[in-house]
Amino acid sequence: MEAEVYTQVKTSIKHTLRIDLENYKEEQMKRRLDSWLVRSHFSTWNEYFNLITKDAMEQERFRNYLTINVTEFFRDQNRWDHVRTEILPYLINNSAQHPQAGGLKLWSAGCSIGAEAYTLAMLMEDFVPSHKYSILATDLDRGALLKAKSRGPYNQEDIRNLSTKQRQQYVTPSSPYYVNEKLQRNIRFQEQNLLDDHFEGDFDLIVCRNVVIYFTTASKDLLYMKFSKALRPGGVLFVGGTEIISVATKFGLQNFGISFYKKV
Ligand SMILES: C[S@@+](CC[C@H](N)C(=O)[O-])C[C@H]1O[C@@H](n2cnc3c(N)ncnc32)[C@H](O)[C@@H]1O
Repeated sequence: MEAEVYTQVKTSIKHTLRIDLENYKEEQMKRRLDSWLVRSHFSTWNEYFNLITKDAMEQERFRNYLTINVTEFFRDQNRWDHVRTEILPYLINNSAQHPQAGGLKLWSAGCSIGAEAYTLAMLMEDFVPSHKYSILATDLDRGALLKAKSRGPYNQEDIRNLSTKQRQQYVTPSSPYYVNEKLQRNIRFQEQNLLDDHFEGDFDLIVCRNVVIYFTTASKDLLYMKFSKALRPGGVLFVGGTEIISVATKFGLQNFGISFYKKV
């Protein structure tokens, strides 16, 4: 894609979808955009943007493609085992030093269709049932958030990591699966652009996994700084399997095991 065309496409995407591609790695994004246009059987971006200003469904498909909202419950199960065995006990202990009325404050940042937020809720309900907690779950993709708020429908693949007991307790007995209302009671779903919008504070745990893959280094740095400020002292940031924060100390964070960083 030519530089001039990319500039125009970026402007149109910012205007129609409120996504600023300046924050995303240019070469990967150009490749993704090129292949989308070919797949959509359009020859120019002007024609395509004419369509999406009139067609809300197509606009949503395009947004989904750009933001890639692939997810599942307990994605990377061994990391979630670590949350259960090490991180939650640590956070409960840490929070005893700064008690909060609402209990542990957790955030699934870039929650897609909600699987990650419901994973957090299942862990709390299963392993520390008497402990109070609240979960904020945010994403910029309205379609994904709508599904998250509707508690489904989820398919067999989405729930493949749930144990038999978790299936019995938390999801409807057959496909399409819906999470039960009880699990949603402490979750607040909210539209938010991580790169633009204001963050709440005092989180014990921020889970931001598989969201920053296409972000530029500058945008990631900005985001990690904002996350660090949003954590309470001793709070933990949980990132994706391939996402390493190389100089965590510059954000006031320190390594706390693979994929985990603690606010110092
Ligand atoms: C691949 S999904 C990851 C879902 C979940 N965190 C997981 O690991 O299973 C990435 C999500 O990040 C969201 N996302 C991408 N850029 C974002 C931004 N700037 N602000 C908020 N959400 C964003 C996308 O809409 C998408 O739902």
